[in-house]
Amino acid sequence: MEIITAVRGFKDILPQESGKWQYIECIAREIFTNFGFREIRVPILEKTDLFRRSIGESTDIVEKEMYTFLDRGNEYLTLRPEATASVVRAYLEHALYANDTVTKLFTMGPMFRRERPQKGRFRQFHQINVEFIGVDDPRCDAEVILMLMQFLKRVGLSDLRLHINSLGCTKCRPLFRQTLTDYLRGKEEGLCKDCQRRIGMNPLRVFDCKMTNCIELIERAPKILDFLCPDCGSHFAKVGESLETFDISFEINPKMVRGLDYYTKTAFEVVTEHLGAQNAVAGGGRYDGLVKDLGGPDVPGIGFAIGCERLISISPINDKEWLLPPRLFIVSLGEDAQKLAFTICNRLRISGIETEMDYSGKSLKSQMKRADKLNSHYALMLGEREIMEGKAELRDMKRGTQETLGLENLEREIIKIIRGS
Ligand code: HAM
Repeated sequence: MEIITAVRGFKDILPQESGKWQYIECIAREIFTNFGFREIRVPILEKTDLFRRSIGESTDIVEKEMYTFLDRGNEYLTLRPEATASVVRAYLEHALYANDTVTKLFTMGPMFRRERPQKGRFRQFHQINVEFIGVDDPRCDAEVILMLMQFLKRVGLSDLRLHINSLGCTKCRPLFRQTLTDYLRGKEEGLCKDCQRRIGMNPLRVFDCKMTNCIELIERAPKILDFLCPDCGSHFAKVGESLETFDISFEINPKMVRGLDYYTKTAFEVVTEHLGAQNAVAGGGRYDGLVKDLGGPDVPGIGFAIGCERLISISPINDKEWLLPPRLFIVSLGEDAQKLAFTICNRLRISGIETEMDYSGKSLKSQMKRADKLNSHYALMLGEREIMEGKAELRDMKRGTQETLGLENLEREIIKIIRGS
């Protein structure tokens, strides 16, 4: 019978990889907590309208990538394609703004987008997501970027480039949008079908197009930075100044518009050359209108998300370093030895020593082979003769040395030696 495989674009994280995942999650928790962020866990399934209203009807995500279905209760539900909308929904639903004017949250977990799977692009992928809600000061923009760059540095990534842009606000963006529309009108023939449609609906999306003709046309298009109102212009300049305070180098990329419609003012992306076409490891920006658009008070926000699969695929740390070997493997031969092995193995585990044992009763050689394969530091050998003589052999597999221990205080002796090594 054929086995049932995972859904296309959905990936298992195998035991030999999960150590890396735990490591990056642990570093994220540590750094984000130091910066005053607290974890929030939100559901994977939300009402479809939440994403339509926040991410935007005419984005690729909402138009063609969401996993949406009609639930048995006759309601449209969607597997979350990103976390910001859900975090803001929870922020409003639980009136978190009533506790404090500043809310700093992070969350981690799977997201779902039905894109064409390719290198660095999956249909289920994971994000580490940060939201800083309640302050519109440009220093906060720099602060979240600083935290992001600090995290990326801690997990060993270098060779990264930070791109920043400003997407303006409701005061200045309409004029830019109109000017861009005027520029694109009359050039429809040179644009792909999607971009032709985008002109009327959401012309900024043309900046995101990967088709050569569209890229060439957009190269000469008007740039949003030339249209910023004084408020957005000064905000953007101050973000740059604050980044310089921390020696964070950045490139201003006036063509970067991001794929979600809720952004205002600062937008940023961290890109690398090691990922091919899917070159963004992280992306984010300010969303000063989102909380209000979702029915809440007029509260600004900024945040980012890191793509975990992409991050892990370029992390320089060797896979071997993440495999945590057991400290001790117990080799046992004969019934009495196996009984003792079972007791000691579990007692040592309870005492905090990672221990493995053999349950097969196979030959000494085959059990030692398994201890070696697991990369165990020590092997405890319990044979029939040893048990009769009231002793056991402890082998240091790394150093190749061996010592004889008495059975009376075996557990204590082992703990002492292992803890001391
Ligand atoms: P985003 O740019 O759509 O932003 O996604 C952030 C990161 O998720 C990307 O830079 C990338 O590393 C990863 N990513 C996105 N799609 C895929 C995919 N199909 N396969 C693998 N990785 C992927 C957001 O999602 C915003 N919610 C970020 C944000 C938070 N903005 C403000 N707060």
